[in-house]
Amino acid sequence: MTLDMPVTEAAQTTAKKTLPDAQTVTAVKHWNDRLFSFRVTRPASLRFRSGEFVMIGLLGDNGKPLLRAYSIASPNWDDELEFYSIKVPDGPLTSKLQHIKEGDEIILRPKPVGTLVLDALLPGKRLWFLATGTGIAPFASLMRDPETYERYEQVIMMHTCRTADELNYGRELVENLRHDPLLGELYGEDFANRLLYYPTTTREDSPLMGRITDNLSSGKVLDDLGLPPVTPEADRAMICGSLAFNVDVKAVLEGFGLREGANSEPKEFVVEKAFVGDGI
Ligand SMILES: Cc1cc2nc3c(=O)[nH]c(=O)nc-3n(C[C@H](O)[C@H](O)[C@H](O)COP(=O)(O)OP(=O)(O)OC[C@H]3O[C@@H](n4cnc5c(N)ncnc54)[C@H](O)[C@@H]3O)c2cc1C
Ligand SMILES: NC(=O)c1ccc[n+]([C@@H]2O[C@H](COP(=O)([O-])OP(=O)(O)OC[C@H]3O[C@@H](n4cnc5c(N)ncnc54)[C@H](OP(=O)(O)O)[C@@H]3O)[C@@H](O)[C@H]2O)c1
Repeated sequence: MTLDMPVTEAAQTTAKKTLPDAQTVTAVKHWNDRLFSFRVTRPASLRFRSGEFVMIGLLGDNGKPLLRAYSIASPNWDDELEFYSIKVPDGPLTSKLQHIKEGDEIILRPKPVGTLVLDALLPGKRLWFLATGTGIAPFASLMRDPETYERYEQVIMMHTCRTADELNYGRELVENLRHDPLLGELYGEDFANRLLYYPTTTREDSPLMGRITDNLSSGKVLDDLGLPPVTPEADRAMICGSLAFNVDVKAVLEGFGLREGANSEPKEFVVEKAFVGDGI
């Protein structure tokens, strides 16, 4: 603190320094009135596996950290960390978090965990990412990790939202990946066939429609993408959505003979909740 610094500015500087596990916001993008993404500096000590989540937040009105689980949406090689967030009206954290700006600080506890990691699955040919809403966040990380394509011949990203504008974060990310220099160098023209994208809506007309559960169990997605039937030998899956979604997709996958695995016991699919609770 310098002597000629105004009192309020000096107080803010002191407050910033006292924020525990602080990271600085480097970019914010609002996708619509319900969704935004942002990037923050990465703690030098933070190592994580693509697909894991951390606790992030702000100081609450009581001066204590107000933290929530967030999937890291950036891949593990990235210098910064990206997050993709809902804006819950009156949500304790997101009603405040949605107003962050470049240069602000957030709290980030550098202890990554989670089940949506490549190590939790047995080797296979095809890897399905099945997500609704912000549940695409861990797959935004895994889709950008070259190791995903080293382990699997094909990755199929199924993302379903109520309306078309809720798909835009994922759509832009996949479009950018199609021009990614590293993946382009590794796979060339073939990359379009390595990452298949199947975005659908359920409450607004769009080119592809319907719930993931219906499109999988009817075989529509297989017909549309020209894929063979789902089998426990070839197919692996990761699920991330609401509790009801997770339960229903799990049943569909079990119907194909796939079994749920975990970090400690890799099998054919793994599941993680995109949020806790019944609804906004
Ligand atoms: C493992 C895990 C990973 C998560 N990763 C993310 C993430 O990457 N991005 C993200 O936005 N949220 C994520 N969440 C949810 C997040 O932890 C918070 O719930 C969310 O930020 C809202 O916080 P809040 O305090 O404003 O409201 P809360 O009190 O936490 O939630 C209020 C209600 O809003 C609804 N809700 C909360 N989050 C969502 C959501 N993401 N989509 C739809 N409805 C929701 C639920 O019905 C919940 O009961 C994750 C949750 C878990 C358990
Ligand atoms: N206030 C608002 O304007 C507003 C807008 C959207 C959502 N919400 C609320 O926010 C909460 C979260 O919304 P969200 O859109 O992220 O999640 P959501 O309501 O769970 O829906 C996301 C997508 O998942 C589908 N889905 C839901 N349950 C499923 C299941 N059991 N099996 C297969 N597919 C399923 C939905 O299809 P269907 O459309 O067929 O259900 C929708 O396309 C919800 O509880 C909702 O009530 C509020």
